Amino acid sequence: MRQSISIAILLFCSIALKAQERNFDPFNYSIQKQSISAHGAVVSAHPLASMVGLSILQQGGNAFDAAIATQLALAVVFPGAGNIGGGGFMVAHLAGGKNIAIDYREKAPYLASRDMYLDSLGNAQPRLSLETHLASGIPGSIAGIFAEFKYARLPFQKLIQPAIDLAKNGFAITAAQAASFNANRKDFIKRNSSATAFVKPALWKAGDTLIQPALANTLLRIRENGASEFYQGETAKMMLEEMNRGKGLFSAADLAQYTATERTAMNFKYKKFHVLSMPLPSSGGILLQQMLGMIEPYHLSDMGFQSAAAVQLMIEVERRAFADRAEFLGDPDFVKVPVSTLVSKSYLKKRMADYTPGKAGNSLVTRAGNVKESEETTHFSVADNEGNAVAITTTLNDSYGSKIVVTGAGFILNNEMDDFSIKAGVPNMYGAIGNEMNAIQAGKRMLSSMTPTILLKKGKPFLIVGSPGGTTIPNSVFQTIVNIGEFGLSASDAVNQAKFHHQWLPDSVFIERDFPQAIAEQLKTMGYSIKSRSSIGRTDIILFKKKSLIAVGDKRGDDDAEGY
Ligand code: DON
Repeated sequence: MRQSISIAILLFCSIALKAQERNFDPFNYSIQKQSISAHGAVVSAHPLASMVGLSILQQGGNAFDAAIATQLALAVVFPGAGNIGGGGFMVAHLAGGKNIAIDYREKAPYLASRDMYLDSLGNAQPRLSLETHLASGIPGSIAGIFAEFKYARLPFQKLIQPAIDLAKNGFAITAAQAASFNANRKDFIKRNSSATAFVKPALWKAGDTLIQPALANTLLRIRENGASEFYQGETAKMMLEEMNRGKGLFSAADLAQYTATERTAMNFKYKKFHVLSMPLPSSGGILLQQMLGMIEPYHLSDMGFQSAAAVQLMIEVERRAFADRAEFLGDPDFVKVPVSTLVSKSYLKKRMADYTPGKAGNSLVTRAGNVKESEETTHFSVADNEGNAVAITTTLNDSYGSKIVVTGAGFILNNEMDDFSIKAGVPNMYGAIGNEMNAIQAGKRMLSSMTPTILLKKGKPFLIVGSPGGTTIPNSVFQTIVNIGEFGLSASDAVNQAKFHHQWLPDSVFIERDFPQAIAEQLKTMGYSIKSRSSIGRTDIILFKKKSLIAVGDKRGDDDAEGY
């Protein structure tokens, strides 16, 4: 009964105009889409994860403490993408001025090889890179969390405890989660030899309790033994046994040698802002710099939000950035990527030389740019009251990754190997194509689109932004920034207004269902192929305005904003 009441409350998503006291009750909670607060804020894909982060801030933790607690809670309450069996990226700005990027993207196992997903005739078999034990890269999230922990203040035990409690005692799932577990039921059963927490005899309904005892025990062991538990301890043993059962490739050496890597954040100017974003092996930061650089000469703001002229310009910019992604980008530890050329003002100007206002471009004609030295080389945002800002995007790739749960350990394995180019020119699950730069190699990281991003104004955080959505991510981040920076939209409108997506190939513009029809018609007249699709991304932002933090959770999901 209590659960059905809680779900009735869930239906009434509230907008808090002032930060309010919100009780943390995993069986009775509501979704808050916006919070305006003075001291700190957390916005993530699930109310319980945001609330866990908020409580850590209120207990004196900084943005890193809150981010770690939120991330671990997401691994429990948002198993579709929150994870310990996947990977991700963090971009952060420290109050003292330092910028940090941490790469904990999965790596190809040592036994992986370039043609591992081709049959004897050389045909790609994408099912293998998506649905089997062969689909997983070596998980990076736990190494990443401990790399983030270097910047935290509270004891790790305190940060992981809420996740342990949520896994052990359970929580009420939302309507969207019930629908999602039911939609994936057959796959969970088919791909797992033992029972998983995500399948029960009857179908799920909103308000049902999800309890994950095996995951709780894994988190407990990590609490006691740290990262080495995951990479060398009992949890590692369980992963290797799981791989043995399913003919996967993980070895003890793969796990023992996995490390997260600190990289230099992309850092570039756009209007009056400094933009910090994720460098390779994510394509996100490079694409964002290219797109913001390409629009710069055009006075986009004068064209007006969602005018045909503005949308067309942004489509053409997206087309060109994604053409370069397919041609030039891959793991910088393995291939040489001409990053400085790709983001230079002169190169970006040349890229736009064949742009004709009012006339659709064509991806057969407009391909990757001419770069001579090609031989060279679930998102959440947290802010504290000290000036630290954290943007983290993490993933299992597909919803619930490979949907294979490590027996005994209770966590889901990623299917990130599909983000490699499994064969030159063969699209991955997001339709992205690639070449040798993103070909599979042992120990290499697959190219990503995740774009955790922070805008600084006068050296202080102005916007924290990021999204899920595969290849649509850089475009969601690009459009959210432009909505605020060029068109002056409110934080909520910048997130929630209809988005559009072009990724070079396929040569179509994908629009959300609420994209204005009249503009879509004008784009058709210009020669664009327009396709309607389901929602694009779930963008969670914190906007700093005067002395307030405006946190917004995207309307497209259960995303929730908390502040104090
Ligand atoms: O790294 C990437 O680009 C993808 N694996 C991200 C997956 C994703 O965003 C799934 N969310 N819808």
